[in-house]
Amino acid sequence: MNKETKAEFYQIINPILQSEEFRKRKKYSHHDDSVYEHCLQVAKLTFKISRSLNLDYKSATIGALLHDFYPDDWQKNKKRKSFFKLHGFVHAYQAKKEAQKHYSSLLNPKVENIIERHMFPLTTKPPTYLESWLVMFVDKGISLSIFKNPAKLPKYIGLKEVSINGQNNRRHLNRARRWGD
Ligand SMILES: [Fe+2]
Ligand SMILES: [Fe+2]
Repeated sequence: MNKETKAEFYQIINPILQSEEFRKRKKYSHHDDSVYEHCLQVAKLTFKISRSLNLDYKSATIGALLHDFYPDDWQKNKKRKSFFKLHGFVHAYQAKKEAQKHYSSLLNPKVENIIERHMFPLTTKPPTYLESWLVMFVDKGISLSIFKNPAKLPKYIGLKEVSINGQNNRRHLNRARRWGD
């Protein structure tokens, strides 16, 4: 991004990025990263692509930044839940609700749709706008590294609460030691 484009990007996101509520997400873990960093990454790539495609890049960027703006550090929440109440199914709706609570003046129907549908196909309704489809793909694309370890996928997308058990980890470790990895 050149200097001017970068300035425009931060002009769009700064009211959210610099707010205390959003900065709390620096402490919410998102696997190897924080929710803050993950959302910023998704917003950056969304901004670049949507701007070059002449889409509504302001709405797309705000939606991308808020797509995982759910209210708690879910990986630390060990409360048992029924299958359809697991993080993967509910966090997009939670994020939309939180966004409405804290940044209502920055929202519009498109931004709300981007947030609410970004987990499609886990959300039964598909994205409505091109910008919503874009954020859905960018989010998945950025998260692609998880496919290097498919066993972790259910936990990654929030469909499994428990971590891989110690026995499995020990088995991998022993195998690695045998092969000198
Ligand atoms: Fe998400
Ligand atoms: Fe995400």
